[in-house]
Amino acid sequence: MIAPIVRSLSALREMSEPWVRAGTSIGVVPTMGALHDGHLSLVAAAKERCERVIVTIFVNPKQFNNPEDLANYPRTETEDARKLKRFGVDAVYVPDGDVMYPDGFSTTVSVAGLTDVMDGIHRPGHFDGVATVVSKLFIQSRATDAFFGEKDFQQLQVVRRVARDLDIPITVHGCPTIREIDGLAMSSRNLLLSDRARVRAPILFEEMEKIAEGVAAGKDFAPLRAAALRRLASSDFTSVEYLEMRANDDLSLQDDPVRPSRLFASAWLAGVRLIDNVAIGRD
Ligand code: PAF
Repeated sequence: MIAPIVRSLSALREMSEPWVRAGTSIGVVPTMGALHDGHLSLVAAAKERCERVIVTIFVNPKQFNNPEDLANYPRTETEDARKLKRFGVDAVYVPDGDVMYPDGFSTTVSVAGLTDVMDGIHRPGHFDGVATVVSKLFIQSRATDAFFGEKDFQQLQVVRRVARDLDIPITVHGCPTIREIDGLAMSSRNLLLSDRARVRAPILFEEMEKIAEGVAAGKDFAPLRAAALRRLASSDFTSVEYLEMRANDDLSLQDDPVRPSRLFASAWLAGVRLIDNVAIGRD
């Protein structure tokens, strides 16, 4: 069954009103489209937990700090609807820009602390855009549960904080990163990789795994990191924005992780920015 595509907020409200009145669990899966198996795993998790499921597709201009990046972002709505067919979701919410940001829109949701590191530095304004749109999607959908991938782990922690700080009655679920057979984390941006770059892209994850395994085995982080940076530079990665170990909960920098931690990386390959993260030891 093809899920109804809903483009207006009034239509979304009309649809969800009886669900809310009946106390039905509603799962929301926020996406920017160009759906891949990573997104579909979130939809599957939502279907398993919730009686009703809404998938949202909105390429949010407020979270792009680079206009070219926004223009190049893949848009594949018809194909997305086809991929969602087998899940039997209740609605695909595809709001227009002016539904999300009507004339005069002037509110920004901003999370301090968690956004002062990593993508918060390298993509100025990005997390304000994410926090603002996600707050709106939570409120508009009236969902009881939301599903996000651990691939964007910093985003997941930011979104959890938004829900907690603003008392939005929703449970945020983090779902494992889904990888291609060669280890590359699934991402809509992978569509932008040239054939040559696509072959090189999994090297980022391979290097991260080596560091994570080394640290878990008691080796020092700094030399492992230096060796990985050398290998990435000789494999066409033009710049590594960060390659660091941070605590899962507050994303504080760790040298020798005694707290549950992850290794986070962002690197450029042939004009495409890749991000990934892996757990150190047990999560
Ligand atoms: O992860 C994404 O695709 C986006 O950042 C999100 C959560 C849908 C908000 O626009």
